Amino acid sequence: MKEEKIYVTRPSLPPLEEFIKYLEDIWESRCLTNQGKYHQIFEKELADYLGVNYVSLFTNGTLALITALQVLRISGEVITTPFSFVATTHALKWNSIKPVFVDIESNYFNLNPEKIEAAITPKTTAILPVHVYGNPCDVEKIEEIANIYGLKVVYDACHAFGVKKEGKSILNFGDLSVLSFHATKAFTTMEGGAIVCHDDKTRRRIDFLKNFGFAGETKVVAPGINAKMNEAQAALGLLQLKYIDKYIEQRRKIANYYRKNLSGIKGIRYLQDLAGVKHNYSYSPILVDEKKYGLTRDELYENLKKQGIYGRRYFYPLISQFPTYRAFDSADPKNLAVAEGITKQVICLPIYPDLAFEEVDKIIRIITRK
Ligand SMILES: Cc1ncc(COP(=O)(O)O)c(C=O)c1O
Repeated sequence: MKEEKIYVTRPSLPPLEEFIKYLEDIWESRCLTNQGKYHQIFEKELADYLGVNYVSLFTNGTLALITALQVLRISGEVITTPFSFVATTHALKWNSIKPVFVDIESNYFNLNPEKIEAAITPKTTAILPVHVYGNPCDVEKIEEIANIYGLKVVYDACHAFGVKKEGKSILNFGDLSVLSFHATKAFTTMEGGAIVCHDDKTRRRIDFLKNFGFAGETKVVAPGINAKMNEAQAALGLLQLKYIDKYIEQRRKIANYYRKNLSGIKGIRYLQDLAGVKHNYSYSPILVDEKKYGLTRDELYENLKKQGIYGRRYFYPLISQFPTYRAFDSADPKNLAVAEGITKQVICLPIYPDLAFEEVDKIIRIITRK
């Protein structure tokens, strides 16, 4: 029998019949985009679900990030992390902003707040941290620093759908937060994204900017872009809201199973849940300490692959190592010692709601070599 390949993730989708009903309605109405009915309903229901004031939908997370920086007129230098998906830094580059890389902390691999102040210069205007794997950054400390120095904070919250800290959405921190609903994410609209903001004035400006800068039929207030989510994506999003809690619960069970079965394996570290945090279990990273485990991360990665298990080395290489960015002073590996260590150790294991426990067992067996 041919073995099925198992990838790091697989999109969760609602029953097709339910989506077809929405599509029929869209066909009938001939309203396909431009803030149509489903766009409006999804924005409201999503804001309620997430526990935030305003959500503005986008075609994808990258355009949402690029636009978020425009909304706040961020320029000059921005402090950010090298341990993320490249789109985080690309969004700065597309705004002609210089990224200044600051090292991460070693527990959850988020931007280390203790190292931010030393990187601030007269040109710094903002901080762009990432809630990596959906684990919240130290939002209080980051806010404190931002307030003292008069900096804006835009969170790349692409991994942090539905994450709460002490019952409050993590998306309520910072000036803006950006979500991605890409097919690899816990909550997907195939492609998609959003900016979360706290007041109506900012929401209006986001809406102008994502629609070519139009602030009325004949009025253009900025060199905006076209980043509007279409009606089919919005309808899918609306439908996904019915199922997301079930998806996350299933992910939680798989994460706990991995954690239980990998605990005590010398040289393998599975992250612990944070007290007071409602996680979304989007990713299942392990760290491989080659000295204690006896194999390098890449050897384990290849062993998994040989048996049809396609984990991903998120995030390797570091963003600071790509040719576009590696010439910056802040990209010097000496400045990023923790990130340089973690990037060589990490593998994200497969996790998605319909991943069978027999498959999880197989992955665990390969890792534990039993
Ligand atoms: C941390 C992070 N930032 C930004 C993005 C870009 O989002 P999108 O693929 O929706 O453009 C992603 C994922 O793709 C991501 O993981």
